[in-house]
Amino acid sequence: MSNTKIRVKDLQLYYGEFHALMDINIDIIENKVTALIGPSGCGKSTFLRTLNRMNDLIDHVKIKGNILIDGIDIYDIACDLTHLRKRVGMVFQKPNPFSKTIYENISYGPRIHGIKEKSKLDEIVEKSLKKAALWDEVKNRLNKPALGLSGGQQQRLCIARCLAVEPDVILMDEPTSALDPISTLKVENLLEELKREYTIVIVTHNMQQAGRVSDYTSFFLNGEIIEKDLTKNIFSKPRDKRTQDYITGRFG
Ligand SMILES: Nc1ncnc2c1ncn2[C@@H]1O[C@H](COP(=O)(O)OP(=O)(O)OP(=O)(O)O)[C@@H](O)[C@H]1O
Ligand SMILES: [Mg+2]
Repeated sequence: MSNTKIRVKDLQLYYGEFHALMDINIDIIENKVTALIGPSGCGKSTFLRTLNRMNDLIDHVKIKGNILIDGIDIYDIACDLTHLRKRVGMVFQKPNPFSKTIYENISYGPRIHGIKEKSKLDEIVEKSLKKAALWDEVKNRLNKPALGLSGGQQQRLCIARCLAVEPDVILMDEPTSALDPISTLKVENLLEELKREYTIVIVTHNMQQAGRVSDYTSFFLNGEIIEKDLTKNIFSKPRDKRTQDYITGRFG
């Protein structure tokens, strides 16, 4: 059975006068991976950021429409932003660990959210690193600087840091574009595991990756969703010529 985790209704986003997202309507399904594809500048990152209100940090942004997570409008005045960002975690294109130890990177979020006991924090650190498939590589160097890890390890650390606060939704903006093929494969395999527990939305420029990791795909062009469907349909029988042109590499 598939449940809607996030429902986006008639979403419009403006950067000043510029209409960057137009009439976005989409249901994002729980415990599935949804890929967002489309050429550079079409609004993928902008859309991703609307899902945890990261655009609120940008001046001159105006948003209309509704985004419901578990049926509750996240743009409602009553929505608690700290709570929202805990529930909807984000992983960025470039790994961005804090300049602290591996342990502190993971325990930081839980501590902010009030967990103090060392034993509990130890447990969260271990569990999160295991879920991010990084534990075996770092268990003997938890008190070493995170910035001493390789790029691929740093990205898995950022995933672990995101998992440590127990989100329901994970947003990933081109999470493997800065990684080598082996690290990329590790992150892709991880997604397969993570979707059992989390709802994942991933932006990717890599068509093969979208095909491998996602259940659903939305094709964005010039701020609109041109087509959204099961990934296998998008890649085997797209309905719109523009989708077809994009996935076959004719533009973008
Ligand atoms: N802070 C901002 N202020 C004004 N315009 C912005 C801002 N951020 C993005 N834009 C514009 O909004 C449009 C969508 O940008 P966005 O970054 O969402 O695209 P994208 O699909 O993620 O592209 P890419 O694949 O290159 O990452 C672009 O025209 C971009 O120039
Ligand atoms: Mg982007």
